[in-house]
Amino acid sequence: MSNTAVPFELFSPDYFRDPYTALDWLRVNSPVHRYVFPVGDVPMWVVTRYDDAMAILADTRFSTAEWRGSAEFQASGLSVSGGTILAQTIPGLDPPEHTRVRRCAMSGFTPRNVDRWREDIRRVIDETIQDWELGQEKDLVAEFAALIPPAVIATRLGFALDRREELARDVDLLISTNPADFPRIPGARERICDYGRELVALKRAEPGDDLTSAFIRAADEEGRITEDELVALVIIMIIAGVGTTKMFITNAMLALLDHPDQRKMISDDPAILAASGIEELLRYESPVASVPWRFPTEAVRVGEVDIAPGEPVMVMIASANRDPDVFDDPHRLDLTRTGSRHLGLGHGIHNCLGAAVARLISEMALATLIERFPDLRLAIPREEIRRHEVWALNDYRALPVTL
Ligand code: HEM
Repeated sequence: MSNTAVPFELFSPDYFRDPYTALDWLRVNSPVHRYVFPVGDVPMWVVTRYDDAMAILADTRFSTAEWRGSAEFQASGLSVSGGTILAQTIPGLDPPEHTRVRRCAMSGFTPRNVDRWREDIRRVIDETIQDWELGQEKDLVAEFAALIPPAVIATRLGFALDRREELARDVDLLISTNPADFPRIPGARERICDYGRELVALKRAEPGDDLTSAFIRAADEEGRITEDELVALVIIMIIAGVGTTKMFITNAMLALLDHPDQRKMISDDPAILAASGIEELLRYESPVASVPWRFPTEAVRVGEVDIAPGEPVMVMIASANRDPDVFDDPHRLDLTRTGSRHLGLGHGIHNCLGAAVARLISEMALATLIERFPDLRLAIPREEIRRHEVWALNDYRALPVTL
């Protein structure tokens, strides 16, 4: 077992100012790192090398089901599902349940279906910036990135927009790792589950040209997913899609503000975003710093370390994506980069189901901002742009800019 002493405190305010220095150190000195998680004192492992991350994500001996976690994990309050139907959402299912439910979910993400999103995305982006004028100050998080994904996903799922803000708040609470939020999480979880149930009932009574109706059709026709799994499927679209896409639009825009030469490449040729730019931005700073916990179902050796069944494993894709053994000069943003696959959208059976949608929304949002506001710049000094201190996410609090 490795008990390497690290020269910094993981997930401290200093860590969040610059996570990559700490992750670089771990990758070299303690690639499968023993760590006691401060919430609930849970002994666990932090994995930082690309090859180890790929191997774990492709290895079905690592479960995502929270009930498989150690006794310390169960007692810690770190469980997102809290034993509700959220435990039946695809991220937390193992095969064969995962295979069955994911097959049903994929019916909503065929290339033809994803193309239907384009019109809604265009309309939502245009409405969001319709009153924007050159020279104004805007917070690109609150006034742009946070508004577009929920509006698009809500429209495609077919739910009433008046509930959007309440839902977005509940999703934020659900993924919070701040112990001060813990007492409010069960309420948020219940509201989200109730909402999913209402939406399925509504669309069963009045089917439409939307994702929820497509899921219901697939579920009823194939008859192979339960009502709870169906409700959980609708809910996970909101939980998995809204926050991640908001953060990615923000992270990508900040990376481009930090690299004016790369931004100019997009102004000169917006097609570079779809060709390789979005993939590079996802590598450079995916909003998902660590994928949800993996729990070994038997003792597994990773690198030089034996991991016991149930011990939570944090697979740090933020670090894997900057592994110099795989990516040349990994801390450099290069929109023309091709070659090894990044892990920003995951890998293995749980890879991002909404990947095509995530790419499309982000590409259209970034291209529009860059085209409409060619001189857009930060409105505050760079060092004042701060991350939320959430260990699993790369999430900035605000991005004030002058248009
Ligand atoms: C830029 C935005 C996004 C990023 C960076 C992202 C990233 C990821 C990652 C890393 C995973 C793998 C998690 C794991 O291994 O446990 C994942 C899974 C997933 N994502 Fe995304 N995601 C994004 C947007 C979306 C959108 C828009 C949707 C839906 C509309 C979505 C739905 C899902 C679902 C359902 C899963 C679970 C798949 C499974 O367990 O089989 N994501 N995402």
